[in-house]
Amino acid sequence: MLLTRTIRLAISLYVVGMIAACTTTENSSFDEPVVYLENDEVRFMMQKLAAMVFNLEKLVEESQNFTDTERQYAVVEQLGEIEKVALKLGAGSGKTKHFVIDSGIDNFLNEIALASTEAKGTPPQYTLAQGLINQCRGCHLKR
Ligand code: HEC
Repeated sequence: MLLTRTIRLAISLYVVGMIAACTTTENSSFDEPVVYLENDEVRFMMQKLAAMVFNLEKLVEESQNFTDTERQYAVVEQLGEIEKVALKLGAGSGKTKHFVIDSGIDNFLNEIALASTEAKGTPPQYTLAQGLINQCRGCHLKR
C-alpha cells in the first residue's frame, strides 16, 4: 500500500537522519564546551538513570512511615544524584552533538528541578518525584 510505503520511507529517512545527527561532531564555537559521548557511555548512563529513577519511585512509596524530615531528605538526595548523571549527558542544548540528547536534556533537567522544588516545599509534595519516570518519554518517544 502506498500509505504504508510512505510511512516506511519516512521512518527510514528519520533513522538515517538520527544516525547522521549522532555522528556529527563538528565544533562550531570556541567558548561552548562540547561533551563527546560514545554510544556505550550513553547506554551506561541510561542504565544508571533508569535504575535511579525506579529507585526514586520506590523510595517515595516506601518512605511513607519515615519522619517528614527523613523522607524529604531522602527524596531530595536521590533527585540530586539523578541530576548529577543527567548533567553528564551534556548539560545543555547542542553540547553533545547527539540530536536526541541535546534536544531533550534541558527539559529533563527542568523536570528534575521542579520535582526537587516540590519536595523541598512546605508541606513537601512528592508527586513530580514519583512521576519523573514519565519524563523519560520526552526523549524516548523521539527514538
Ligand atoms: C535526554 C534524552 C534522554 C532522556 C531524558 C532519557 N533517555 Fe534513555 N536514551 C536516550 C538515548 C539517545 C538512548 C540511546 C543510546 C544508544 O543506544 O546509543 C537511550 C537509551 C536508553 C536505554 C537503553 C540502554 C542500553 O543499554 O542500550 C534505556 C534502558 C533508557 N534509555 C532508559 C531511560 C530512562 C529510564 C530514562 C528516564 C529516567 C531515560 N532513558 C531518559 C536518551 C534519553
